[in-house]
Amino acid sequence: MKPDQAESLRRKMKQRQLIKPQLYEKKAKTLAVISGKGGVGKSNITLNMALALQEKGKNVLIIDLDIGMGNIDVLIGASSSRTIIDVMENRHVLAQSLSAGPKGIRYISGGTGLDVIYQADREKWAYFMNDLSAVLRDFDYVLFDMGAGLSKEQLPFILSAEDILAVTTPEPTAIMDAYSAIKYLVIADERLSISIAVNRARSKKNAMDTFARLSHAIHTFLGADVQFAGSIPDDPLVSQAVIDQVPFLINSPQAKASRSIRLLTDVLFQTEENKPREEKPAFIEKLSSFLMRRTLH
Ligand SMILES: Nc1ncnc2c1ncn2[C@@H]1O[C@H](COP(=O)(O)OP(=O)(O)OP(=O)(O)O)[C@@H](O)[C@H]1O
Ligand SMILES: [Mg+2]
Repeated sequence: MKPDQAESLRRKMKQRQLIKPQLYEKKAKTLAVISGKGGVGKSNITLNMALALQEKGKNVLIIDLDIGMGNIDVLIGASSSRTIIDVMENRHVLAQSLSAGPKGIRYISGGTGLDVIYQADREKWAYFMNDLSAVLRDFDYVLFDMGAGLSKEQLPFILSAEDILAVTTPEPTAIMDAYSAIKYLVIADERLSISIAVNRARSKKNAMDTFARLSHAIHTFLGADVQFAGSIPDDPLVSQAVIDQVPFLINSPQAKASRSIRLLTDVLFQTEENKPREEKPAFIEKLSSFLMRRTLH
């Protein structure tokens, strides 16, 4: 074997060792919260869902992947110094970069420059994946708050998540954009598990009609089925909580929106817990293969 071949083999072996050790250990459930249209309530739902899970004694981590426009920390009136991009760039270890949010939830904010996905080399990804899988063992749930639409940088995370929650409002534009986003995802992988949350509903009927419209189109034109996770009413206490920079579940625990988010969380995660897990490919393995495929070296 030529010396350069031996060197390349050694490098490959080293990368494998870096990726392999923790991939098959116990891990958190992963959920990506997406939408077609922007501003439909993804971040508020992610944050308050995390708090509802935490109330039930679960350990929850939010990863803000709305890179450049992330605002989980703004919603809780905090600012964080380390971001997920710092971790991807191997500047900091993930476990040491998590910020503490209310009720014991942990989060990491987005930072800027997710195009790192196209620049990182295999060794960087190997470290990142190892880092991420170590953290996944410490949490029951990891929720990804995504930016609106489907940017190519976010896709590996969305397609790897065990479950996807698509948020829409009753507005036809939001429904149409949710349909387009879901169409893209279903074409990429028809086995994805997708649930729908209807936010800012004017009534239960309004929420059910919205879900019926969206799920009917998905069923008819894409041959796929989506689940109804629940609805959250249009509630002025939600925008008040945003202004106060205190999540509505804490600011107004008995508000209609708070009761709805608890219900939605129960439906979404109880159904989840009853599903046999082994049917789904593990998040970390899927993500690892997506990211590795994207790197050139
Ligand atoms: N159920 C609700 N009732 C009343 N107002 C709401 C509700 N949900 C969201 N809003 C309003 O919509 C705004 C946008 O919500 P949020 O930031 O959660 O949306 P987003 O989908 O994360 O937006 P982006 O696409 O920019 O990330 C909130 O600041 C709030 O004022
Ligand atoms: Mg948001």
